[in-house]
Amino acid sequence: MQAVDRCIREHLHSEVVLVNQIAEYIVGNGGKRLRPLLALMAARACNNQSTHHFTLAAVVEMIHTSTLLHDDVVDESGMRRGQKTANAVFGNAAAVLVGDFLYSRSFQMMVSIGSMRVQEILADATNLIAEGEVLQLMNIGDTDITVDAYLQVIRYKTAKLFEASARLGAVVAGATDAVEDGLARYGMHLGTAFQIIDDVLDYSGNAGDIGKNVGDDLSEGKLTLPVIYALQRAPEAEVPQLKELIAAGNLEVMPRLMSLMDETGAIASAREVAEGEVRLAMDAIAQLPDSETKQHLAALTRIAVDRQS
Ligand code: IPE
Ligand code: IPE
Ligand code: MG
Ligand code: MG
Repeated sequence: MQAVDRCIREHLHSEVVLVNQIAEYIVGNGGKRLRPLLALMAARACNNQSTHHFTLAAVVEMIHTSTLLHDDVVDESGMRRGQKTANAVFGNAAAVLVGDFLYSRSFQMMVSIGSMRVQEILADATNLIAEGEVLQLMNIGDTDITVDAYLQVIRYKTAKLFEASARLGAVVAGATDAVEDGLARYGMHLGTAFQIIDDVLDYSGNAGDIGKNVGDDLSEGKLTLPVIYALQRAPEAEVPQLKELIAAGNLEVMPRLMSLMDETGAIASAREVAEGEVRLAMDAIAQLPDSETKQHLAALTRIAVDRQS
């Protein structure tokens, strides 16, 4: 992971001062580095002998970081990684443009590896992430959104990059198709569980722990799994008014919504869906021989769902 961080830092450099400043600001503020970790672990699970996995791990983290710069503009978020967002400090225009810089720089790095397969995986993943974000935008304020529609959005916007990270680790290590597909499915289910928990923490977490403001999803009119379940199970007479307030992103509904999530077991049910994804992730790597790395992959699923931050 230190080698990955060095690789990221080396590639942030630009002659343009503001690019360095903003890139350094968001990268230097930390982040869990889960996607590069996943790429390295997948490579290790396949007895990787190349050094390309460091570059690819850096690439997926830089793509992730660029999506965060863009996402915080779109979501009008003020806090990320325990600090003010880049858009709050430097403005929307600068955040979007430096997001573009990181995104295209990551593609320069990817091309340097010289593998058409690697390029295909990353081109497909980034394209689907963009579609996921647009799909989510179209769903804003839709209080009748189904669980399936919600799951499609998170598979696209979040799980796909986890999937690509794991797949890339397997590809650079020269894994068989079956092992590559297994690790990719592990990544996809892990990423799905991870985003469900992220959505749970937006209601039940603590701003200090998650490094983001709680209640952001509600104020954006974004309906996530805990809200979908709460609305499905709320007393019928209350539903029309609840929906109206939620669609408008009116935070006054928060106390009632929180008590409903508790009373109806909506948070617990959302966590159960995440646990189901974890089981599928574990099934997907069942074929791997027992090893320390396999135990670490199992541990990573626990981190994704049991985390407070
Ligand atoms: C944030 O991802 C965006 C989501 C997919 C929920 P992370 O929670 O992995 O962000 P950092 O990199 O650790 O800040
Ligand atoms: C993050 O989605 C997904 C991407 C950046 C593509 P969210 O908007 O749900 O994540 P946070 O809560 O801002 O980290
Ligand atoms: Mg956001
Ligand atoms: Mg968002």
